[in-house]
Amino acid sequence: MGRAEKVVLAYSGGVDTSVCIPYLKQEWGVKEVITLAADLGQGDELEPIREKALKSGAAQSLVADATLSFVEDYAFPAIQANALYESRYPLSTALARPLIAKLLVEAAQTYGADAVAHGCTGKGNDQVRFDVSIMALNPDLKVLAPAREWGFSREETIAYGERFGIPSPVKKSSPYSIDRNLLGRSIEAASLEDPSVEPPEEIYLMTKAIADTPNQPEYVEIGFEQGIPTTLNGTTLDPVALISQLNESAGNHGVGRIDMVENRVVGIKSREIYEAPALLVLIHAHRDLESLTLTADVTQYKRGIEDAYSQIVYQGLWYSPLKQALDAFIKKTQERVSGTVRVKLFKGNAMIVGRQSENSLYTPELATYTSEDQFDHKAAEGFIYLWGLPTRVWSQKNKG
Ligand code: ARG
Repeated sequence: MGRAEKVVLAYSGGVDTSVCIPYLKQEWGVKEVITLAADLGQGDELEPIREKALKSGAAQSLVADATLSFVEDYAFPAIQANALYESRYPLSTALARPLIAKLLVEAAQTYGADAVAHGCTGKGNDQVRFDVSIMALNPDLKVLAPAREWGFSREETIAYGERFGIPSPVKKSSPYSIDRNLLGRSIEAASLEDPSVEPPEEIYLMTKAIADTPNQPEYVEIGFEQGIPTTLNGTTLDPVALISQLNESAGNHGVGRIDMVENRVVGIKSREIYEAPALLVLIHAHRDLESLTLTADVTQYKRGIEDAYSQIVYQGLWYSPLKQALDAFIKKTQERVSGTVRVKLFKGNAMIVGRQSENSLYTPELATYTSEDQFDHKAAEGFIYLWGLPTRVWSQKNKG
């Protein structure tokens, strides 16, 4: 008896997921491997990937274009949540995992598979996100993770693949471990493993070095409706085009790089470099629009919710009950977060230089220092008397 009869494997076309195909069949007695390659806007050509899976021994090779859903159902809610893990990482990789997990579970259902599989190793966050998402969506499905168990070195993986007709990588493969999708790139390993060493310029693809950015600023006006970005410079764009265009503009001005040491779910600290130009600008702009349209208490209370949200998404709990409850809170707060934010892109900065909303709570007659002022200055006196009363009493009792 093998570990499963029929398996749907998340497939990227790389050596590891290719080797998973013969490995599942030879070592774990799987009868049929169906691969699923998800297009999340990573820019790979999918037809060669589809064919490579078949050459590597897949019984069927599926390709799913999920870019639109990735943006609408995963990135946009994260923008509404201003989600930044440890206040910095906009979760560009993390958001892709629950979607891929959903595609795997759906394919398993469609093709009558009794297990799904992925190529993650045992040290990362992605295995956690896949496994937990899959068990949340279908608790009866088995999850197989060959690369977590096989113990192969890089060379051994390639050698194993060659035995089953999987070509070793033609060009000398990059020493970095890179994950890429429409929202960004995550780069780790090789020289980046020393957190004191500056990343070499060659690792960046979506963002220019400041030395190469234009000497003139570029202004972009982002329009939001209920917390969702819908327009760029007054033009309504579909979600994918909006992200792509903003990636271009922001990246061209060197906006969107992050170099951080982060705390992984499995207890390891790791040094990771990110590029996420559009996503970072959108979170920045969205947060600004909230400061115009939400009351003080909602704005401030929401910060705590945002932290919790970012953590549970990072930790693989996208389909958890806590996440659903936070979603409901966030959705409610977004009802009036509509308007436009003007951003100046220049030399690695995305500066908010203006914001407007029909739902603005900013009241000029209250804020102004001119003769138009409507604020009741005398009311402040009584307010401060009561506001300071507990502190005064405490001070009187604690003299000396
Ligand atoms: N640390 C990031 C995360 O957990 C990215 C993981 C994938 N990174 C990579 N270079 N392969 O979301």
